[in-house]
Amino acid sequence: MSLEDIAKKMCAKGKGILAADESTGTMDKRLKSVGVESSEANRLNFRETLFSSDAMKNYIGGVILFDETIRQKTSIGISIPELITKNDSVVGIKVDKGAKKIAGSPEETVTEGLDGLRERLAEYYKLGARFTKWRAVYNIGKNYPSVQSIKSNAHALARYAALVQEANMVPIVEPEVLMDGDHDIDACYKATTDVLNECYNELAIHKVSLKGTVLKPNMVISGSTCKNKASSEEIAKKTLDCLKKNVPSDVPGIAFLSGGQTEQEATKNLDEINKINDTNFLITFSYGRALQQSALKTWAKEMSDKKAIHNVFNHRAKMNGLASKGEWSQSLEA
Ligand code: 13P
Repeated sequence: MSLEDIAKKMCAKGKGILAADESTGTMDKRLKSVGVESSEANRLNFRETLFSSDAMKNYIGGVILFDETIRQKTSIGISIPELITKNDSVVGIKVDKGAKKIAGSPEETVTEGLDGLRERLAEYYKLGARFTKWRAVYNIGKNYPSVQSIKSNAHALARYAALVQEANMVPIVEPEVLMDGDHDIDACYKATTDVLNECYNELAIHKVSLKGTVLKPNMVISGSTCKNKASSEEIAKKTLDCLKKNVPSDVPGIAFLSGGQTEQEATKNLDEINKINDTNFLITFSYGRALQQSALKTWAKEMSDKKAIHNVFNHRAKMNGLASKGEWSQSLEA
């Protein structure tokens, strides 16, 4: 399969990406929040339960894994990558090593992980991965995102993406402008514009073939503590406008992160965007929290009740699958 075909498969109409690549530290927090011990066995149990659901075949085009998970065996003896592939979904892997303080701008971060990346990519390919993820993070503040953060993160993202394509995998390019703060939607629009511009500038310099990439951006949205929050219609309009102006049309797929939106907000906003999508971009989801939150709560209550957990996860995935086509409505949530 060409990189372009893989990218299109990950973002196929009616499907999206399950971001299950939380690092062990993040999983510790997530499991603690539902009162479950974060052991390796429990992390595997939750993830294997999701990956065994019907939703996988119907609504999930790709799954992003963390290093621990791509090496794990399921309770039925096959490996986690085999289980995902069996459901006709593409295996992905988070390859960055996290966002670290920038020297000279300690309130901002630059994502690290380029050292030894070529070798790690070769190993992940052998383990079954066909796409990867690297997340850069930007704050909005009076002086942020700074030129230093925009440039250093874009440079790292482009070096990463070039290495991933060399290893015959599709790089997900994830520049995340955080929702944290009381800024309005226009501040998010401006920051997202600056960030995307510099990313595509660097991707061109590093000769990355955009047809074999997927963009994972934030939506253009008000800050989480903003007093005057934008409506879903405004979010959709401004997000699509920002993408049209700043993302080259060669990019086949755009899969949003949920970034702290509730499950239903993330679905509704994706749906609004697709209702007015007049581009050739396949626009879908690559959600972590907004796909897993309810399923995690159900799992924590009764781990052995696979049917109940599957029902909850299947519903959420289906709602997002519909939203990826602009066919969701509130009445389907009841
Ligand atoms: P959220 O959807 O929870 O923001 O996670 C997506 C993700 O992969 C962030 O890197």
